[in-house]
Amino acid sequence: MTIRKLGCLTVLFGLIISGCTNQPVVNEDEILRNKIAQLVQAERNNFSAQQISEYPLGSVLSGGGSRPSDGSVQGWKKMVTGYQEKSDIPILYGVDAVHGHNNLLGATIFPHNIGLGAANDEDLMRRIGVATAKEVSATGIHWNFAPTLAVVQDIRWGRTYESFSEDQTLVSRLGTAYIQGLQSAGIAATAKHFLADGATEFGSASGSYLLDQGDARLSEDEIRRVHLHPYIDAIEKGDVLTVMISYSSINGKKLHASKYWITDVLKGELGFKGVVISDWEAIHQLPGSLYQQIVASMNAGIDMLMEPFKWKETVDTMVRAVNNGDISKERIEDAYQRVMLVKEKLGLLDGSFKMADASVIHSQEHQDLAREAVAKSLVLLKNNGVLPLKKNAKILLIGPGADNAGLASGGWTYSWQGETTGSNLPQATTLKQAFESVASAFGGMITTDVSLINQVDIVVLALAEQPYAEGVGDATDLALNGSQMSAANKDALMLAKASKKPVVTILTAGRPRVVTDELKDWDAFVMAWLYGTEAKGITDVLYGDVNFTGRLPFSWPKTSKTDDISSQDPDRDASNVLFDFGFGLKYE
Ligand code: BGC
Ligand code: BGC
Repeated sequence: MTIRKLGCLTVLFGLIISGCTNQPVVNEDEILRNKIAQLVQAERNNFSAQQISEYPLGSVLSGGGSRPSDGSVQGWKKMVTGYQEKSDIPILYGVDAVHGHNNLLGATIFPHNIGLGAANDEDLMRRIGVATAKEVSATGIHWNFAPTLAVVQDIRWGRTYESFSEDQTLVSRLGTAYIQGLQSAGIAATAKHFLADGATEFGSASGSYLLDQGDARLSEDEIRRVHLHPYIDAIEKGDVLTVMISYSSINGKKLHASKYWITDVLKGELGFKGVVISDWEAIHQLPGSLYQQIVASMNAGIDMLMEPFKWKETVDTMVRAVNNGDISKERIEDAYQRVMLVKEKLGLLDGSFKMADASVIHSQEHQDLAREAVAKSLVLLKNNGVLPLKKNAKILLIGPGADNAGLASGGWTYSWQGETTGSNLPQATTLKQAFESVASAFGGMITTDVSLINQVDIVVLALAEQPYAEGVGDATDLALNGSQMSAANKDALMLAKASKKPVVTILTAGRPRVVTDELKDWDAFVMAWLYGTEAKGITDVLYGDVNFTGRLPFSWPKTSKTDDISSQDPDRDASNVLFDFGFGLKYE
C-alpha cells in the first residue's frame, strides 16, 4: 500500500492523514465521493485520462474489441499508463481475455473453453492461464474477466462455447486451474457469471434472445448441486479475486438484485473476500430509476458497477443515495475496502505490479502451448479407418473452415462478435497452412481447387459456424444448415458426397451441431470446436503424430431439442443423445 498525494493533502486509502495550512481541507463529502468513484468502472471509449481529476474512478475496461487507436502492445501500454499517471489511486484495467488476449492484434488465440473442456487437462489449463496472464500484462492490463464458470445445460445458448462443460465437476476443476494460472502470474481472474447463467430456460429471455440473460427455473438444491459448485472451488482453492454477476434471473428474480445469493451465500457462506462486479450495464435491467437500480444492486452486495456509459451519473447518484441513507456508509466502506484489497494484492498500491515483456505475445512457447491445447481438444466421433492420414496423401480441402482463422476462433476474437475472415488475425496458422506444411515436407498434396477432385485420395470437409457472441448466438435450429451456420457449408457438403472419395469431416463450431442424417456419408468425423490460431494442433492428430485424447464435454444431440439431454438433467431424454457425454474415440 502507498501513501498518495491529493493536491497538497496526504491520503491513505481515501483518508486524509495530513492536511496543509493555506489550502481548503478536503471535507468528508469529498472523501465519500472519492470512495464511491472507486466503485465505478467506465469503458475506455467514454472515459479519458483527463476526466480522472474530476471523477477518480476505480476501474476502466475495454469492451469486446475495444482497443486504443494505436493497437500495438506499446499503444495499449501507453493508454493504461495514461490513466495511471492521472490517478491518485491506480486504476484497475480490465478486459475479456477469454481465450488468450483476444482484443490484442497478434495475440495467441487458444481454443474457447468448450474445447478445453474436451481436453480436460488441469495442468494445461494452468499453463494457459499463465500464458494468457503474460500476454495481458504485457499490455499493462491487470484484470481478466475470465473464466466463465457457467455449467451450460442447453447448448442452444450462444455462450455455450464459453463454458467448459455441462458437468459441474469438470467446470470446477478446469476453471480453478485456470484461475490459479492467471493469478499466479499476477493477473486478477473473474469467476462469472454468478449464478446459474448456464441454466436459463429456452424462451425465457427477452427481446431477440432465447436463452441469454433469461431465467433459471430450478430448485435451490439443483442450483447448489450443479451451478454453485464451481464457485466453491474457485474461492477455496483458486482464491479468485473477483466475481461477476449474471444478467440472468433465478426463478424470476434478477441476480443483480439478489442479496440472498450475493451477500448471504457468496460473501457469507462461501466467504468470498474480493470484489463483486456487475455485468455491462446490467443494473439497468432492474426496475425503477437509476437511483433505485443503484440502491438495489449495491445493497444486494455488488461492490463495483460496470457502467461503460453512465459512470458519471452513477457516481453522482450513488453519492445522493448514501446521503439519503438509502445505501449505508458501512456498505460503501466494505465495497471500497474490497476494491483496495484487490488493488493491493495485484501490487498496484505499492507499485510492484509487473508488466511482462512484449516478446511474450504469440511467442514460440505460447504457439506450442496453443497447438498442444488444440490437439488435446479434438474429439474423434467416427473413424472407419481413413484416419490417420498418410503424410503423402493427396487431399482436397473444401468448406468454409478450410482457410479462415476468423471462423476457427469464433466470437470474442479481435471484435466482440468475432471475425468472418482471417484478415485481422495475421498471426494465425490456418487449417490449409497446417496441411500444406505437412504435405510439402512429405510429398503429399493439398489443394482447395475442386476441379482437381479426380486427382485426390481423400476429401477433407471443413464445416464451420459463423462467429457470434452472447445472445446473438442463441439458436433455434442446430442443423448443419441451421442457425449461425455458414451458408458455404451446403455446397461443400454436396460436393463431398458426390465425390465418391473417402470424406473426413472437421467441424468448427461453438457447440455440437445436429449431424444425424449426414454422419453416414462421412468416413471420419472430428469435432474441432473453436480452436483459434494454431491449426497445426489439428494436423498433428490427423496425421497420427499425436493420438486423440479429447472427450465430449457435452452430450451430443440427435435433434435441436436440447433442453433435456444433459447428463446432469435428472429427467434426461437419453433417446435424443447421439454421442454421450465423455465419448471420444482414439487410434488403436
Ligand atoms: C458480458 C461479460 C463481459 C462484459 C464486458 C458482458 O456483455 O456478459 O461476460 O465480461 O460484457 O465485456
Ligand atoms: C461490448 C461487449 C459487451 C456488450 C454487451 C458490446 O458492445 O463490446 O464487451 O459485452 O456490448 O452488450
